[in-house]
Amino acid sequence: MSEPQPTYLSDYRPPAYRVTHTELTFDLDPSATRVKARLHLERHPEHEPGAALELDGEQLTLKAIAIDGQPLDEDEYALTDTGLRVHRVPQRFLLDTEVNIAPEANTALEGLYLSNGMYCTQCEAEGFRRITYYPDRPDVMATFSTTVIGDAVQLPILLSNGNPVERGELPGGRHFVTWDDPHPKPSYLFALVAGDLKKVEDGFTTMSGRDVTLQIWVEEENLDKTDHAMASLKRAMQWDEETYAREYDLDLFMIVAVNDFNMGAMENKGLNIFNSAAVLTHPHTATDAAFQQVEGIVAHEYFHNWSGNRVTCRDWFQLSLKEGFTVFRDQCFSADTNSAPVKRIQDVSFFRTAQFAEDAGPTAHPIRPDHYIEITNFYTLTIYEKGAQVVRMLSNLLGWEAFRRGSDLYFERYDGQAVTIEDFVGCMAEVSGLDLSQFMRWYSQAGTPEIDTQGEYDYAKCEYRLVLRQRTPATPGQPDKLPLHIPLRLGLVGTKSGRDLPLTLDGESLGSDTVIHLREEEQEFVFTDVSEAPVPSLLRGFSAPVKLRFPYGREDLAFLLQHDSDDFNRWDAGQRLAMLALEDLIAAHRNGVEKVMDTRVVEAFRGLLATETDDKAVLAEMLTLPTEAYIAEQQALVDVDAIHAAREFVKQSLAAALRDDFLRLFEENRSDAAYAPEPEQIAQRSLKNVALAYLMAIEDDQGIELARTQFAADHNMTDVRHALTLLVHSSRTDIAEPALKAFGEAWAHDPLVMDQWFSIQVTRPQPDALERVKFLMDHPAFSLKNPNKVRALIGAFAQNRVNFHRLDGAGYRLLADVVITLNQLNPEIAARIITPLTRWQRFEEPRQELMKAELERIRAEELSPNVYEVVEKALA
Ligand code: PHE
Ligand code: ZN
Repeated sequence: MSEPQPTYLSDYRPPAYRVTHTELTFDLDPSATRVKARLHLERHPEHEPGAALELDGEQLTLKAIAIDGQPLDEDEYALTDTGLRVHRVPQRFLLDTEVNIAPEANTALEGLYLSNGMYCTQCEAEGFRRITYYPDRPDVMATFSTTVIGDAVQLPILLSNGNPVERGELPGGRHFVTWDDPHPKPSYLFALVAGDLKKVEDGFTTMSGRDVTLQIWVEEENLDKTDHAMASLKRAMQWDEETYAREYDLDLFMIVAVNDFNMGAMENKGLNIFNSAAVLTHPHTATDAAFQQVEGIVAHEYFHNWSGNRVTCRDWFQLSLKEGFTVFRDQCFSADTNSAPVKRIQDVSFFRTAQFAEDAGPTAHPIRPDHYIEITNFYTLTIYEKGAQVVRMLSNLLGWEAFRRGSDLYFERYDGQAVTIEDFVGCMAEVSGLDLSQFMRWYSQAGTPEIDTQGEYDYAKCEYRLVLRQRTPATPGQPDKLPLHIPLRLGLVGTKSGRDLPLTLDGESLGSDTVIHLREEEQEFVFTDVSEAPVPSLLRGFSAPVKLRFPYGREDLAFLLQHDSDDFNRWDAGQRLAMLALEDLIAAHRNGVEKVMDTRVVEAFRGLLATETDDKAVLAEMLTLPTEAYIAEQQALVDVDAIHAAREFVKQSLAAALRDDFLRLFEENRSDAAYAPEPEQIAQRSLKNVALAYLMAIEDDQGIELARTQFAADHNMTDVRHALTLLVHSSRTDIAEPALKAFGEAWAHDPLVMDQWFSIQVTRPQPDALERVKFLMDHPAFSLKNPNKVRALIGAFAQNRVNFHRLDGAGYRLLADVVITLNQLNPEIAARIITPLTRWQRFEEPRQELMKAELERIRAEELSPNVYEVVEKALA
């Protein structure tokens, strides 16, 4: 087999032919679906007449081809592995093709496939070419008319994009529906769904008075799990009108839930398709976190209708144009509907753990990559989350008002077009007059910038001097980096007053919270008229996606934890304080020295527990220790066992010292109120459950009894799952096993709850976790063909650090075996699930060697381009 070849951004050329209108007819059949396509094609004026017509197409069986009604002779076209070329075509013409495809054989879940007897499509990024021959690239936008034909009994519901315009009976017990989508769209936004589905329906009146019908389509047994998604959709529609003046543009908006789906959800025009895990909720089946996630994803896909669909990407290198902007939009929406500081804390703590690791690993890439082998490998945290951080920086640089004008200009100027990141940033520069040329480096440079900071207070002059030095480490293919434009929000907190001090820089007074702009490699800022010695509060709200170091002492951090006016930085000070203690304990563990708990951390926590707070959700975050993954991210080389031991020690020490406080917190936040996924309730539950986790850390009788009772009360999934997890992760297997068994039997019929049941077991720290994974892979509810199951069992196990990184290499071997199987079944999922192995350089011997050996074993297989690209990078 020849090596897969990369595609380069610099090779971009506009298409020679555009499609003005696309007519499709699907005659559905599991093994032989017939797809007829009529494309209305036109040569671009600037292209010379002789240009051949090149169409993408994969895994298609061509049955007929004609131009303007004339069947083509075999020498008039050529078929290849990747498409179809017609040597000579007129300036404007109709192309008719007919192909056969086999949805039931499609385990990759790209193109048209079957999920639980239901037909559905996934076309982003390049799935449409598995449906018909087409210029499958986002800069070709056409109106679509789609006729779906299927068995009237088995497939009563036939859906596609736009509005239904015709339906009728056909011979042989079949029926059809024709859909018209008047908005020109690229092929990646095409969708088709057919099955025995039931709907819930609601409505929304847009700001200009258009009545929109809203439908959520599900399997019958899930009809009671759609309320929250529907409410979220309506809130998102309202929010986008109020915040960005964006109105919906069709009479119908549909969401469909499918069980087999590679990603979270997909923004197909007028017909969003969702992984059932990203849309279905019920108090008894979904946790608070799941409710919040559903709200965010529903909003995200809806927001794409403008940021993505009406204005789309010129090519896939511009992916962050739609994803970064849309994630930023959904983050702001969730912040507005929930606790804003907690939303920020959760987003950033995930970002600093997972995106930082990606940016420091072998697959590091810029927000706009300049080449790829397989585009599905680039739906990454960098494109999505770092992309969103960069849009957030733009909104802060411009201020909300100017940013909104920039966004209005962008939507107005480029409506119906396929554009680039320059076009977006260009609008922002144009409305603000700012020079954003240095800022553009954020899009082209990979790696996380590191800022080393030093601060000094001059008592005599009442000056505070800050020296900042930025450096971005080398990443694959990018040895040298240029300085970035980094907006740094900060305050100086007076050590006497405990208040933010007024800030004066170069004679200008800037209030007590300001943004300084770092553009050089090294820069000095001298704040004058600083009346008392301050502790600096730096990078407030995580104003830039960087690692910032400052030589804080533990007293400084305890002080900020108490006094910082920025909630995010208060939380971060607590995390930094805990990190200092954890680092000492990691060292003690490695040196075989007795571990001693830092009393300053205990006292800081005692202080937190004693203060009255109105934001319980923030308090719950402050009482939560950094995860093992985050701690690992801070280490030069990761010692898995020392990290685990140190973190357990801190948890137990805090629990022992503050047991009564945690007990009181637990009791105070218990509630029998009917479940609602509302911010106050969620906050209260999270605080109560943090307290319960500490109580269970010392596994005394009372803690165990509380967890048991909470599990048995069966009040809502948040509490049940938390209690069950604590029991299963404890050493009390005698109590855990019956609970686990009861839960598994009660929910055997519900795949989304079974996913949770799988994950809970295989993330337990006890040494039997790997054997459980193997055992559960034969469970009737498990299947390697279902991505949710793979994530719930295998993906979750790879997060179980002490067990995945077993020194006998059995964890690595298991993951590699799964990757080798999935490489054939579902390459996209195979290339994602392999990630933990690619981070081998971060670990000590012998783990490095063991991980590399598994990568080598995978490399010896006949690889899909997806897995090939990742493995090659990992072993480069
Ligand atoms: N575009 C989808 C989203 O963000 C993600 C997706 C990509 C889904 C590729 C499926 C396939 O929201
Ligand atoms: Zn998206």
